[in-house]
Amino acid sequence: MSMTLDEPDGTYDGLPAYYFDNRLGGPVLSHQERWDEMAGTHSGFRSTVARGFWVVTDGPAVQRALQDWRTFSNKSVTALDPDPKFLWIPEMLDPPVHSVWRRLLGRYFSPGTVAAMEPEVRRIAAEMIDEFKDRDGAEVLDGFARRFPTLVFMRLMGLPEEDLPTFLAWTRELLHLSHGEDPDGARRLSAMREVSAYFDEQIALRRRTARDDLLSHAMTWTIDGEPIDDRDMHAFCVLMFQAGFDTVPISIGWALYHFATHPRQRAEILADPSLIPTGVEEILRVYSFVVPARKATKDVEIGGCPVREGEMVMLPLAVTNRDPGRYENPGEVDLHRRATNHIAFGSGPHRCLGSHLARLELNVAIEEWHRRIPDHRLAPGQELWQHGNMYGIKSLRLEW
Ligand code: HEM
Repeated sequence: MSMTLDEPDGTYDGLPAYYFDNRLGGPVLSHQERWDEMAGTHSGFRSTVARGFWVVTDGPAVQRALQDWRTFSNKSVTALDPDPKFLWIPEMLDPPVHSVWRRLLGRYFSPGTVAAMEPEVRRIAAEMIDEFKDRDGAEVLDGFARRFPTLVFMRLMGLPEEDLPTFLAWTRELLHLSHGEDPDGARRLSAMREVSAYFDEQIALRRRTARDDLLSHAMTWTIDGEPIDDRDMHAFCVLMFQAGFDTVPISIGWALYHFATHPRQRAEILADPSLIPTGVEEILRVYSFVVPARKATKDVEIGGCPVREGEMVMLPLAVTNRDPGRYENPGEVDLHRRATNHIAFGSGPHRCLGSHLARLELNVAIEEWHRRIPDHRLAPGQELWQHGNMYGIKSLRLEW
């Protein structure tokens, strides 16, 4: 695994190019620390992986690119594939069509709508933690961090709750298999087909009989005077599945890992739970795990990378969120930090639609967990590993 930029793998446009593969997993925090290291030595570089792409490692340049949608398009958001055969809505749309979708979706994810969901979100978290609080330990990702947000999301979308185990299995097959477990991608593909068929069925059900859920409401919307067809409804469902199913579990995993390994800070939030919101923001910042990508619409220089029209650019949020020019002690969670202003939810037009819901879920998870399991630590004898692509912990056993 190439974790540093010691040896160039060749040259591109006269510049050194490196074999840099973000899909590979590594020990916990290794990706975040590797970004720190690369940001310290390079402002940007070319990766030779697949068809090749640029990697920006300058914090302000990452944020600038995310905001400049005219130059950095969302037609592809996968650094390895500039011409994807699939569509995710709204993620892979550019303004102005993107703005129409955001306006329509906005009210379902607004601060007011999300605040109204709080009692139910809290009840779901509390019930799940109650199920195993009287044991002396557990694998907490499958037991809680993955189940809780998935169930919240299924209620929001109006999907049948008995399908929760199926959804959790799909998430694992789609997002969490290592290369060794799925060398030719066949398991991933087969899960993707099942997810697609599932959403097609759910869309067809609602076309016959509308219900009071986000999916049914979306079917009544019009874009440029036209109703949304099944293809776009499908692209929307698949994106919601990807966006909402993995990110909150990953963040809850990091939060539990953090408080298990920082007992003094755990004592502080127990004594004063009003510190939890800042703790959540700091955990999102320090453990940054999303690595967006964009496709250049013209030749442009960004963060030292001479990008040509049509080329892909990788924009790791970690380099902005852990930038020593932006934060003092950037790698440390500071429960008393004043300005967090991180970009863990992205920046620009595609900034996370679900950020209010994600924040609610994270705060509720940490509050309800510590109310019931105040004293917890890492179970001994486990090797802690994080996935590539989106850096979530693979498995986390805690004891209490
Ligand atoms: C802590 C949890 C979360 C994190 C860190 C996160 C992060 C992000 C980031 C960085 C983006 C921008 C991607 C880009 O620029 O290409 C994004 C977009 C998005 N997120 Fe989240 N997200 C989280 C939770 C959620 C949840 C719970 C939902 C919905 C239920 C959601 C829905 C979306 C959608 C729909 C987009 C696409 C927005 C657009 O294209 O305009 N996210 N998220």
